[in-house]
Amino acid sequence: MKGIILAGGAGSRLYPLTLVASKQLQPVYDKPMVYYPLTTLIEGGVREFCLISTPHDLPRYRQLFGDGSRLGLQIEYREQARPEGIAQAFRIADTFIGKDPVTLILGDNIFYGADAFTQAFSSFSQGAVIFGYHVQDPERYGVVEFDRAGNAISIEEKPKQPRSNYAVPGLYLFDNSVVSIARDLTPSPRGELEITDVNLEYMRRGQLKVHRLNRGFAWLDAGTSSSLHEASAYVQTIEKRAGIKIGCPEEAAFRRGFLSLSALQTLITSLPRCEYRAYLESVADEGVRA
Ligand code: TTP
Repeated sequence: MKGIILAGGAGSRLYPLTLVASKQLQPVYDKPMVYYPLTTLIEGGVREFCLISTPHDLPRYRQLFGDGSRLGLQIEYREQARPEGIAQAFRIADTFIGKDPVTLILGDNIFYGADAFTQAFSSFSQGAVIFGYHVQDPERYGVVEFDRAGNAISIEEKPKQPRSNYAVPGLYLFDNSVVSIARDLTPSPRGELEITDVNLEYMRRGQLKVHRLNRGFAWLDAGTSSSLHEASAYVQTIEKRAGIKIGCPEEAAFRRGFLSLSALQTLITSLPRCEYRAYLESVADEGVRA
């Protein structure tokens, strides 16, 4: 499965932070925000990526990840000239997707807990798989409604009167039909190619599965200065308590077998002496003992 990381947008709610760097490059505790969604997809077994961002910010991402080979990945880059909708990503990346299924993750979505996605990735075969997460403020998101049997029966984008408290997080798995579905979309009244319209088309075809994420799972939002701060505090709390790191792509690539132990050790020697390096050294030491 190919992977798209969508890291464009205006980030206007984070102004003036976003004058300095795009939203998805802001620090979430000890690493750039985009590390978290990248790690989520690596954990799902994705190795080939297309990172989409604005013409202004794209060079920073190239600087950060290069061609991905340092992490045992392949990473391509494409521009989104204007934020004309999440579903536009499938038009921008159509030649990258080719004939494969594809997963899209938003560059500001941080997930933590259990391996809720592992099963979804490994068992994916066709149609679309999206998720439902119980939130307090569903009107800010795509909202999915379930019937008594747990089947999804409606999805509405930012409804004024939500039919449920289940928001759709920014992680979607699609078979290759997404390319033609996105090609045929027309912009919504707010002028965007809506990911909700893609999901609705799969629902119309009877090919949409919605997995409800359980209560123990964390989906963090980092779109405002308060929520960015809270996300940092959350990550710090877990990392300090458990002595692990969340959103560490080097570790995920190593554990997935994309990076050999010797490649990880070489990568470590290129890092400055810091907490992050010390953590990766402990991961490598554990690898030596295993
Ligand atoms: P939003 O949070 O809706 O928008 P934004 O990031 O531009 O922030 P703000 O509202 O503060 O101006 O976008 C959700 C995510 O999707 C975010 O990671 C940006 C990304 N996105 C794109 O990359 N391109 C797009 O065309 C859209 C609509 C969103």
